[in-house]
Amino acid sequence: TASRLVLGIETSCDETAASVIEGASSAESGASAPYSRILSNVVFSQIEEHAAFGGVVPEIAARAHVSALDRIVAAALDDAQVGLADLDAIAVTAGPGLIGGLMVGFMTAKALAFGAEKPLIPVNHLEGHALTARLTDRLPFPYLLLLVSGGHTQIVLVKAVGEYERLGTTIDDALGEAFDKTAKLLDLPYPGGPNVEKAALAGDGTRFLLPRPLKSKPRPDFSFSGLKTAVRQAAENLAPLSDQDVADLCASFQVAVGDTLQDRLRRALESVADQHPSGMPSALVVAGGVAANAYLRTSLEALCEDRRLRFVAPPLALCTDNGAMIAHAGLERLLAGLVPLPDEVFALPPRS
Ligand code: KG4
Ligand code: ZN
Repeated sequence: TASRLVLGIETSCDETAASVIEGASSAESGASAPYSRILSNVVFSQIEEHAAFGGVVPEIAARAHVSALDRIVAAALDDAQVGLADLDAIAVTAGPGLIGGLMVGFMTAKALAFGAEKPLIPVNHLEGHALTARLTDRLPFPYLLLLVSGGHTQIVLVKAVGEYERLGTTIDDALGEAFDKTAKLLDLPYPGGPNVEKAALAGDGTRFLLPRPLKSKPRPDFSFSGLKTAVRQAAENLAPLSDQDVADLCASFQVAVGDTLQDRLRRALESVADQHPSGMPSALVVAGGVAANAYLRTSLEALCEDRRLRFVAPPLALCTDNGAMIAHAGLERLLAGLVPLPDEVFALPPRS
């Protein structure tokens, strides 16, 4: 059959990643989304190089991509047991992200595509996260996406390949950033999210009543900087903090975040029902690093049960930055005929 092979490259933040996937269109595979299979998925995390600085340092990230990317691509091809000549296309993250890393990934992909005479498909990083659920669950359009990472906090209606309607976003900090800053002010190690979650396990989430920013506001936007400030004030009032205080603060923070996500998603569903009465989403999909949080997953699952929505949480390794999500988005674009002409990909797309 007409199965395609796509190499995907991701370098927008602190993961150097490449993957090869194999797939066929839904018409060819008889499903509601393309059949696709991950042949390899190689992720090199730079977390240790940034840990000492308490966050991602753009120049260190760019240099680390330069030193790792050729070997990561070679490993992805090797694991998949394919050569460059076997590929049908090369997909690469074209933004948004840290410009140094994007340049490294984009130029590498361009050179490979030029040398192997393959089409180059630039992929928006967020589109990669948005379409991952079709790689793992063959989900039909439309569906609702909650993207919560260190850099992004968005509710998106995913209507078709290349058709995304952003219903809401954060007006200040991203949710992962709020987790990271909260961890920092409680003296928990970097990266903050997993450590806040761990501390919260021993905590009482009802001890502190923290704000639910923007609750009941009609547009499903987010704001997290006030929540972080409320944690800081509570911590300052208690200082010095016992381990139990830290655990209770973390647990109360997560409860406030869970409530906020539920409220904002309910609001997003209402606005979709008002504007697209015929095209109600079939599922809620979570993506981004914060989707790793088990407490928040349970809270979102409860919301979905209540609203009779399917809840889709792709495996963690595919929720955080990786090459397979870029390769899959490239495959979807290839199958949909959304491949740019060579001179259209001469430059990085305009900043978004
Ligand atoms: O998607 P991701 O790996 O990278 C980007 O930001 O694009 O997300 C990283 C973010 C960090 O802010 C990290 O603290 C957060 O996801 N995170 C978590 C958890 N694991 C990672 N936040 C809450 N709970 C977790 N278990
Ligand atoms: Zn990401």
